Amino acid sequence: MLRVQPRGARNNGKINLSSVLSLLLLALGADGAKSAPGKLEACAGKKIYIMDIGIFAKETGVPPCNLATDIKIDPMNGIPFLPGAWQVKHVEGKGAPIAIAAHSGPWHLRQTIRGSVHHTTDMEEADIIYVYDHCYYMRWLGQVHSNGPKDQKEASEGGEWMMKGLQALVKTDRWKKNDGSDFVFFDPHPGFTDGTSDKEFKTLMCHTSKKSMHIVVERGQINICPDYWEMHDKLVIAPYVAGSSDVAKPLLGFKTAITPIKERKTLLYLTASCLPYAYENWNQTKIKGGKQFRHAVQLMLGNLTPDVDVKCVDPTLGGHYTPFPQVLEIMQTATFCLVLPGDSASSRRTSEIFMSGCIPVFIGPPYATMPFGDAVDYKAAAYFFNITDHKFWFDSELLWENPKDVRPYHVQTAWYWFPDATVNDAMIKVKSLPAMLKYLRNIPEADLQKKIDALAKERLKFAYRHKLSKTPTASSVIMSEMCTKYNVKPTGAPKQASAAAAVPDDEEDEEE
Ligand SMILES: *[C@@H]1O[C@H](CO)[C@@H](O)[C@H](O)[C@H]1NC(C)=O
Ligand SMILES: *[C@@H]1O[C@H](CO)[C@@H](O)[C@H](O)[C@H]1NC(C)=O
Repeated sequence: MLRVQPRGARNNGKINLSSVLSLLLLALGADGAKSAPGKLEACAGKKIYIMDIGIFAKETGVPPCNLATDIKIDPMNGIPFLPGAWQVKHVEGKGAPIAIAAHSGPWHLRQTIRGSVHHTTDMEEADIIYVYDHCYYMRWLGQVHSNGPKDQKEASEGGEWMMKGLQALVKTDRWKKNDGSDFVFFDPHPGFTDGTSDKEFKTLMCHTSKKSMHIVVERGQINICPDYWEMHDKLVIAPYVAGSSDVAKPLLGFKTAITPIKERKTLLYLTASCLPYAYENWNQTKIKGGKQFRHAVQLMLGNLTPDVDVKCVDPTLGGHYTPFPQVLEIMQTATFCLVLPGDSASSRRTSEIFMSGCIPVFIGPPYATMPFGDAVDYKAAAYFFNITDHKFWFDSELLWENPKDVRPYHVQTAWYWFPDATVNDAMIKVKSLPAMLKYLRNIPEADLQKKIDALAKERLKFAYRHKLSKTPTASSVIMSEMCTKYNVKPTGAPKQASAAAAVPDDEEDEEE
């Protein structure tokens, strides 16, 4: 159940009487849970205030985005969605639309913060301000990404309303107090920088909020900023929210058992959309995404042997759609699952692969995003291949690190999709995709078991659970990162993500 946000709580710290009651209710914690609120080691003594930009609706003249009345929660998987009016078709019995579900991280983080002892409703005493713009963000997503009729990106009011709120936010005294350096933004989609709000959003992210902390789903979102080296010390790459159907149950009681090696039927699995290969730039030049790579993998591996299940879903490539519950079932009983980039470097499948217990196999160049490069033990839980003969899908050279003086202009430029975790020393160099397959086929069972044991330890870090528990989950990793990095003084040094502070894993236990 959602409670009313303290809409009367203005940024001057004064609170009207009617909101006092809801503040009291909020203090009881999210969902009215009676259990003791959770604690995180890294957040000891720190308080987080959730600034819902809906509080600026009146002064900016945009319609309110009311969490209590506008958002519904899918009872099957606990994922928030905006019903009908905003063109997001909630298909009865099939769960919330994937586009919304995958990008609902900010909402889950909000629920986790609210249910913890680190939450405060007093903005002045807060060490960290978590900017909550997801209500408008979902409207934007619903308008441009719905599975019903889509609006043109140019016509997305959701994005404009969100921008108005954010622009009001950076005019507040609380923002000015530390020049936004104690504010945390969560941008859960790599493509907000499209459409009419594009320029303003980029200015806000790259310049106005360059001292703030940014949670993104792929590095490219901030790497496009000229001040990347100042910003990257406070950058966290978060996973997508996995799944969107009752089968995945990414949030409610995720307990999917890990299939023993001997019972796994498929050797290697991938099902993905492989089109379009390229997108048009604003100036009619083409940006090549990663989908040609996926198609190449299907062409080279798809029909090799019956235990290799690698396919494109696109009908024009002879493919067909597999329902999500079935995809999940195959992943649970496959030994290896390929992790590949798509239109941009990140994809929801990465979370699903980890959560399903299928051994992730990252291949490149270019490489898919590795969320939580600091906090997840990628080397222990996955395989990494450097395919040297990549001309068929990638005709330029991959950069193996971020050059200080070169900035890409778009998240879809594949040459800088280098690994986000320190895995280069674990890279297995092979000439071709069939050579990679041969390698996988010959890995001793004992080694596979080690990977699976490591995977079992890591996979909850891809699950956005609301309660803090002994085992780190996506939300608790993000909270730890917030509390560790929010006041980091930027060094501007070009270092890989992995060198940053580790996330402590000794949080207080909490009932499931
Ligand atoms: C088109 O735009 C991209 C991105 O801004 C730029 O890198 C490229 O040079 C432009 N091409 C032409 C022909 O203007
Ligand atoms: C991958 O292979 C290429 C081509 O041989 C090589 O230049 C590059 O250094 C390799 N990278 C890693 C991390 O092994």
